[in-house]
This record gives sequence, structure tokens and C-alpha cells, in this order.
Amino acid sequence: MSLPLGAGAVLDREPASSDFLAEVIAGLSNQPRTLPCKFFYDERGAALFQKICDLPEYYVTRTELQILRLQGATIATALGTQIELIGLGTGAGTKTRILLEELNSPAVYIPIDISKEQLQRSTTRFREIFPELEILPVCADYLEPFELPSPGRVSSRKIIYFPGSTIGNFEPRAAKIFLQRIADLCGKDGGLLIGVDLQKNPRVIESAYNDSAGITAEFNLNLLVRANHELGADFDLNHWRHRAIYNAAEGRIEMHLISDIDQVARIEDHQFNFPAGENIITEFSYKYTPDGFVALAREAGFEFVRMWTDDARLFGVFYFTVAK
Ligand code: AVJ
Repeated sequence: MSLPLGAGAVLDREPASSDFLAEVIAGLSNQPRTLPCKFFYDERGAALFQKICDLPEYYVTRTELQILRLQGATIATALGTQIELIGLGTGAGTKTRILLEELNSPAVYIPIDISKEQLQRSTTRFREIFPELEILPVCADYLEPFELPSPGRVSSRKIIYFPGSTIGNFEPRAAKIFLQRIADLCGKDGGLLIGVDLQKNPRVIESAYNDSAGITAEFNLNLLVRANHELGADFDLNHWRHRAIYNAAEGRIEMHLISDIDQVARIEDHQFNFPAGENIITEFSYKYTPDGFVALAREAGFEFVRMWTDDARLFGVFYFTVAK
């Protein structure tokens, strides 16, 4: 299918605010209560996440960037020439820019992101830096099935780039289903370049999600700020605390919002009672062993090609092709 896109335009599949309301009500009605982490990224949340990436404790982004800088040329050789690169959740585009600079004559770049402002800004910038590249931005929640714009240019193969260890937000069973969808999307000659945070000393992980400057706390609490602004909820921000806990048995960080006191929150005609100490789970961030991740991807129909990592093996950039 061909979707018309004017110069500078973003293919707009931004989720409606009604989705936010429905998902908040559904999540708070669960036991344990949950709020979906994809709603972290409004304009303020995206800016807070940028700050997280620069925190001394948050090794994730820095390490992935370092791997790309040091191994970019080798990665580019593995991916090949004239590819169509499809970026999922590429945000401000810092990593993709490094990758695109290393790639050998990439043909098409399709960034897909839920944050429209960031997508527009990064697309304008990328069109200046890479005038030869066909860039077709899509604002969408890539967790839901989405359609891709049809490039005008011919490419050698589709390669999905999924940086940032966002795959860690899925529970393993859902991660497998998601990866299967990706394999279908990129087709039989396709590939997947994916950043994955690796298992390591739990103290290192916990401090990355409980930073001393309190930025991760603000980022987490931003979900309640958004609910207040956008849904007319009345969460009392003075009585919610952030805490991230590493669950070693599951291999995941769990982000919680914890109620300080017995309290009630209202959203439209719904009312939620929170006894003191009650949790809302806002995010899981799974950490994998290299073998564990390769096994998961294999179950989803991918063949392992290579992993690039840092000296301390904090983070892995994996390359897979679709299994024949
Ligand atoms: C964007 C999902 C990779 O899990 O590390 C950062 C989000 N949450 N600090 C992560 C996040 C709290 C991040 N991902």
C-alpha cells in the first residue's frame, strides 16, 4: 500500500487520548495495579528520558552508544549496502544517526516513534544531514500492528533497528510474539539489529533505576502528572513515591509507584482506593543473558549472526537474520 506523504510530513498514527483513558482505567482495575510504560513518553517524559540517558548511574544508553561508535563499521558491513532501515522507537535519533553515518549507501530510512515532536525534529535534522536518503517518518505505537509507507527507492533488504533495550519492556512470551511480527515485517531477506541490556550485578542495575538526582522518580511520576492533566484525574503527587526493584528470579527491573498514605484517586466516574503501601507497577525492564536472548529470538524465527558488546559486557547489540 502506498501512503501519500508531503515533504516534512509525518505519517500520523499517534494514539488517541481515548486510548490513554481506557488503558489507565483498565490498568488501575488490575490486581496488581499497572500503568503502561508506553505512556511515559509525552513531550515532558521524552525530555526526562533524555536526562536519564545522561545520568552517571544509567549505563544503558552510554554503553550502547559506545558499542555503536567502536563497532559501527563492522556492524555496517554485516548489514550490507543499500538497505531499508526501519527504526522502532528511535526517539531523538542519536543512535540511528551514528548507524546511518556508518552504513554503506543506505537507501531508505523509516523512523517509527510514538513521540511526534521528537520525530518531526529528528526528521528535519536527518534530511539535512543525509540528503541522499529517503526518509519516511511514521508516528505510531509500534507495539500495535502498523502499516509501513512504500518507499520510492529500491533497497536490497529490510532491516529493523530496535535500539535502547526497549524489547526489555515485554514479558518474554510477548517479546517472542513481537519478534515474530518483526520477522514477518522484514521478510525473508530481512534482518534485525537490536539492543539488549544484559544481566549483571543487581546493584548496578538497581542504581541505574534509582538515581540519586531523582530524575527516574520524576519520569515515573510523570504518568500521574499526565493522568491529572489529560484525563482530569486527581492524583496527589505529594503522596506517591518511586521505587525500582530488581527481581533476580525473573531477570527484570520493576518500576513501582507506591502510595504513601491511604488515599483515593478519581478519574472521570471511576474511583480507586489506594491503601498506604499499595503499588502500581509502571514498567518491567528485562535483562537477558546473551544465550537467553539468542534462544528467544530463535523461537521467534531468527537466526543469530553476531553480538557486539562492551568490555564489561553490560549491553549487547545483536544482529539476526530471518531464518530460512
Ligand atoms: C527505554 C525501556 C529501555 O528500561 O531502561 C529508563 C526505560 N525506565 N529508566 C529502560 C527506563 C526507567 C528504559 N527503556
